[in-house]
Amino acid sequence: MNIQLIPLQPHGDERGALVALEEGKNIPFNIKRVYYMFNTVENVRRGYHAHKKLKQVAIAVSGSCRFALDNGIERIEILLDNPAQGLLIDSCMWREMFDFSDDCVLMVLASELYDESDYIRDYSQFLELMNI
Ligand code: TYD
Repeated sequence: MNIQLIPLQPHGDERGALVALEEGKNIPFNIKRVYYMFNTVENVRRGYHAHKKLKQVAIAVSGSCRFALDNGIERIEILLDNPAQGLLIDSCMWREMFDFSDDCVLMVLASELYDESDYIRDYSQFLELMNI
């Protein structure tokens, strides 16, 4: 499975660092929605879904968390702990997020508006749709 971690060039000077996110440049789709998770309760595991069409880039803008990405054949775990790195989550990819640090702010850029009909929330249905 090909996991794409996108380097997000920080513009740093003596004042600190700044990262710009631009559709079609460092973000490989048009950004229709941005959301973020914070105050995540200890030991919580969330996600447990895939999307039929939606593409996303996840960035731990503060703190850290782990992702499990699963294409139905293979499952890979990734630590996100760098605000200058984006994890590309393609469509048809099962994801789970866990091990959120207390200070974790996980920001997600999405290629589509929120649409519950794009979600696959059942793992066996996900495998069926993937013809596995
Ligand atoms: P949910 O999809 O359960 O989050 P996760 O899979 O990351 O754990 O979303 C949590 C709630 O927020 C749920 O009630 C749906 C709502 N929601 C929106 O209203 N808009 C959004 O863009 C997203 C991602 C979720």
